Amino acid sequence: MDLFSNIVSFCKRRGFVYPTSEIYGGISNSYDYGPYGAQLLKNIRSIWWKTFVEDRDDMLGLDTQIIQHPQTWVASGHVGSFTDPLVEDKINHKRYRADHLIENWAEKNKKDITVEDMKLDEMASYIIENNIRSPEGNELTEPKAFNLLFETEIGTVSGDKSKVYLRGETAQGIFSNYKQITDSCRVKLPFGVGQIGKSFRNEITQGQFIFRTFEFEQAEIEYFFDPNTSDWKLLMDQWKKDMMDFLINDLGISSEKLRWRQHTDKERSHYSKDTYDIDFEFSFGWKELWGIAYRTDYDLNQHIQHSGKPLQWVKPDGSKFTPHVIEPAVGINRLFFMLLTQAYYEEDLGEGKTRTVLKLKPSIAPVKVAIFPLQKDEKLDILASSVYKDLRKLFTCEYDNSGNIGKMYRRQDEIGTPYCLVIDYESLEDNCLTIRDRDTMKQVRVPIVEVKTWLIQKIHE
Ligand code: GAP
Repeated sequence: MDLFSNIVSFCKRRGFVYPTSEIYGGISNSYDYGPYGAQLLKNIRSIWWKTFVEDRDDMLGLDTQIIQHPQTWVASGHVGSFTDPLVEDKINHKRYRADHLIENWAEKNKKDITVEDMKLDEMASYIIENNIRSPEGNELTEPKAFNLLFETEIGTVSGDKSKVYLRGETAQGIFSNYKQITDSCRVKLPFGVGQIGKSFRNEITQGQFIFRTFEFEQAEIEYFFDPNTSDWKLLMDQWKKDMMDFLINDLGISSEKLRWRQHTDKERSHYSKDTYDIDFEFSFGWKELWGIAYRTDYDLNQHIQHSGKPLQWVKPDGSKFTPHVIEPAVGINRLFFMLLTQAYYEEDLGEGKTRTVLKLKPSIAPVKVAIFPLQKDEKLDILASSVYKDLRKLFTCEYDNSGNIGKMYRRQDEIGTPYCLVIDYESLEDNCLTIRDRDTMKQVRVPIVEVKTWLIQKIHE
């Protein structure tokens, strides 16, 4: 099996990611997060929030609704132009992204094209000229623009319903609350607002596991500034550095797996003057992980126009202007997938033995510490469980007294637990325990009274 398939089956087997509604046959582009996956997601959210909201003087947090006033999405341009190019297999009626089929064909046939720059009619001609077919080998329909917003209705009385959208990005909740934030909190420009929450997109592409799903979590920042006193290029450079630092230092991603890519003029979203992506080398190639866009004053101006409300910044002398915005936007689930892709190892231990190990940075691992008595023995159990009860106040811990030390280590290696603590018969005499390191498999003996300090230092170093 390849790395992609290994990760997918590992995630299911070890309680990280399950196919949604599997008992009913599943649902495409949808995944649930199992016990370890839920904890890993929580850790990613917490570290992002701490780094970008809590630890900065120029940032505030926000939590807005998934369903917002439908005018929000008219103003933002999503109703008009949040589309992907869709083609349909004329025989089996399966739907595909035209740009993806063209890209795959060009790669296979070693043609140098920038599909991001192509308009719908250019894609249509390219597909006909090159006889590009569906993956099943059938003819395709002409590409058409397919809107990604999910529609639903609100209203309790029949016939009294109104169309609303599930948000396509968390960003708009920040823009529509901009005035309330500046009115209710003491802020001065430049300042940013960060938000983590679910977004929804009716994605056409299927089969990319958690890389592209209908429902996903975004962590977005809108950084507001005065374009007359701040240089957007300098701000963007600083944010680009902060994003890379977060991936390398806080999440422990290796720099060789990350690269910057600037969007071409035609590829950029309707609201952006300049956009870069950090791409990560997934098992299926270099793909977008995290974007940063210079959204100018586009969104606030759109909301001023559509709501009729004065959202401008008022200077002490009474003059007004619309702040500009830099937006770093990432998917929490994509960070999750990146972490698993980098951390997943199948190590050859010799003599036909292998171990699966998830080499996550200790601070991000779902379970930080596992505690075992060496054997099934009441005396060992009493001491080990008292250590467990004490440590779980500080760390996510697991207790295992099944007695087979090899199996207990293996189970913890697989879920990425950085430290396993073993209580043995000597512990009853010398009040020390053995700590085994997940990556090196080396063991050290530490007095039980010093274990907390030892772990705090190691987990947060
Ligand atoms: N507010 C800007 C915005 O939404 P985007 O590039 O469309 O920009 C930002 O989305 C990030 O959200 C992406 O870089 C990616 O990490 C994540 N993302 C977007 N669509 C996704 C999907 N269908 N499934 C999972 N993550 C997604």
